[in-house]
Amino acid sequence: IKRITTHTLQEMKLRGEKISMLTAYDFSMAKIVDEAGIDIILVGDSASNVMAGHETTLPITLDQMIYHASAVVRAVKRAFVVVDIPFGNYQGNSSEALRSAIRIMKESGAHSVKMEGGSEIRESVVRILSAGVPVMGHLGLTPQSIYKFGTYTVRAKEEAEAQKLLEDAKVLEECGCFALVLEKIPAALAKKVAETVSIPVIGIGAGGKVDGQVLVMHDMLGITQEFKPRFLRQYADLEAVMLDAFKRYITDVKAKDFPNESESY
Ligand code: KIV
Ligand code: NA
Repeated sequence: IKRITTHTLQEMKLRGEKISMLTAYDFSMAKIVDEAGIDIILVGDSASNVMAGHETTLPITLDQMIYHASAVVRAVKRAFVVVDIPFGNYQGNSSEALRSAIRIMKESGAHSVKMEGGSEIRESVVRILSAGVPVMGHLGLTPQSIYKFGTYTVRAKEEAEAQKLLEDAKVLEECGCFALVLEKIPAALAKKVAETVSIPVIGIGAGGKVDGQVLVMHDMLGITQEFKPRFLRQYADLEAVMLDAFKRYITDVKAKDFPNESESY
């Protein structure tokens, strides 16, 4: 199997082939999504919510991200693996950012890192890139700044914030980021960004006129049932499937139906 690289992703944008991206946090799920043919797997800091049950992405640690990432990397044969640098492990200064990126690359074997923000993280992005580590940007609704925003509503609806976002996208492109995530912004603005920058723009809640799409795996599988924003298309109802399996197992155990003769030694 031919591995996806930053070069492959750049070619996809030029060809107009949409890039598919999903999150994964563990070996078993990463194996299945890689086998399905996903282009990019994001070991997102959404693991803080989905895996650990925190309300925000802020509490997850670098060690925990590396644990998730190394499990994902062991499962993947084709996809390009991106890992979020968590809150508090890059905002301090560019040395801290570089140190975090290097730990992720060395200890997990992932292929790149992702960071939230534009001009304010420029120096860190440049420093990490000059160490040979590909960087993906993330603008719009950046969940590590949730307490600054106050809500998870659509970002950059006003002209000033939209202008800043477009400028930040250009900054990240100039720095050498290989791609960019745009989260929860108006479709028209996302389209403009994708047309302006030459690097692939991956959207989540950013409309269809971008170069690719990303969703949180557990949301699209219908495992996290309480989270249903407009942008989420649910491709399965795994909660129902799992509840049914668990309940039938419990029933069988209670009824002394499991294990039967052929399931015993
Ligand atoms: O952590 C995450 O899952 C993300 C995606 C939503 C882009 O950053
Ligand atoms: Na994230």
